[in-house]
Amino acid sequence: TTRIAVIGAGSGYMPGVIRGLLHRAGDLAGTELRFHDVDAEHLDVMTRLARNMFAARGADFTVSAHTDLRAALDGAQFVFTTFRPGGLRARHLDESIPLKHGVVGQETVGPGGFFMACRSVPVLLEIADVLADVAPDAWIVNYTNPTNVVTDAVERHTDAKIIGLCDQWVGDTETWADLLGLPADGLEIDWIGTNHGTWAERVRLNGEPVDIAPLLAAVEPRGDATPHRDPVRMAELGKALGLLVNSYSKYYFFHDEVVAELREKGTTRAEDIMAMLPRYYAQVAAEADKPDPDPSRERGGGEHGEFAVDVICAIARDEQRRFIVNTRNRGAIASLEPDAIVEVPALVGRQGPVPLVMGELPRQVRGLTQAVHEYERLAADAAVTGDRRTALRALLAHPFVPGLRVAEQILDEGLAAHRADLPQF
Ligand code: G6P
Repeated sequence: TTRIAVIGAGSGYMPGVIRGLLHRAGDLAGTELRFHDVDAEHLDVMTRLARNMFAARGADFTVSAHTDLRAALDGAQFVFTTFRPGGLRARHLDESIPLKHGVVGQETVGPGGFFMACRSVPVLLEIADVLADVAPDAWIVNYTNPTNVVTDAVERHTDAKIIGLCDQWVGDTETWADLLGLPADGLEIDWIGTNHGTWAERVRLNGEPVDIAPLLAAVEPRGDATPHRDPVRMAELGKALGLLVNSYSKYYFFHDEVVAELREKGTTRAEDIMAMLPRYYAQVAAEADKPDPDPSRERGGGEHGEFAVDVICAIARDEQRRFIVNTRNRGAIASLEPDAIVEVPALVGRQGPVPLVMGELPRQVRGLTQAVHEYERLAADAAVTGDRRTALRALLAHPFVPGLRVAEQILDEGLAAHRADLPQF
């Protein structure tokens, strides 16, 4: 039987993950799920929810709950990591500290993402360390952000096998289908770059190449913005660059505008989520013990869980399916070093992800992507070693950071504020 450990199983994203598992219940029949979280109360709610949803829909899964990491990982073939170290309290600091210094505060990109990397990496290294003892062949299927930095640290510093995921490309593909007037079904986009910094010039519809140049030239910037989707700016930038862009590109190409907006908004995304979470968990808890629970999908959405479960199935069943994932470059993107962690189309089967050859990055984003990659590599090294000099160099390499003074201020303030979550510094 397949054994999947879910680390961070008390997460608000779990209802979507449970639905993702139900979606492939036939292919994963007999699977043993080991749910782990440091928050025993949230773990209990999600465990009861999963059991009742599986029972109601006749899914052949068993679920056990663990607060002990080793017990959860023991004998696992897959370790699905989806936790947020330090929780939303720490995320609020990631989002607010850079902003005070005129730099975008965001949990995955820029200095905020740097501090998140410093919290995530030690936990992933610990997981890899335990796996070496209890499940050396397990695949870590990682959503914990910043997913590319985490993937790089684990690949270069441990013997564990890891595939880095982010579902942003699924939503971005839908946004672009809408903007370009193409059906989302059957649309395949060659997203390439680094996580939350991907671009595309090649698009296919039902396998046939689509010439995006005339479509982009005619694009009307329109559509409502949500926290992780800004179709107006994506269209404006896409037109200007002649490329399809990831929704996070707004942080790079509209930096000062976004800083002004975030300041004016007054609350961070973390604060907004913290305000709604008690109601959300209460709703999930109220559903959990019903014979046929149907919890709200407020957190994460459907694609988040389905993507991760599909990737697990692709490896377990050697499906050779094409996904956009974070993995070693191995020449897929000629403009980045061979052992860079890149986000690229890859075929996923029993051997893990094999990236597809994509060629050079378009010149208009090549230098930026190379700079972001160099930052990410330094960030991974700083997160592993806790070396302050490397940390400062990482921030100095990041395109958001305007200079030495600001880099030092953000670093000192961030290290002090996060002290309890940064054992390596
Ligand atoms: C998007 C990003 C993820 C990020 C998530 C946060 O999906 O691609 O990397 O973790 O947003 O969502 P939240 O609702 O917590 O702001």
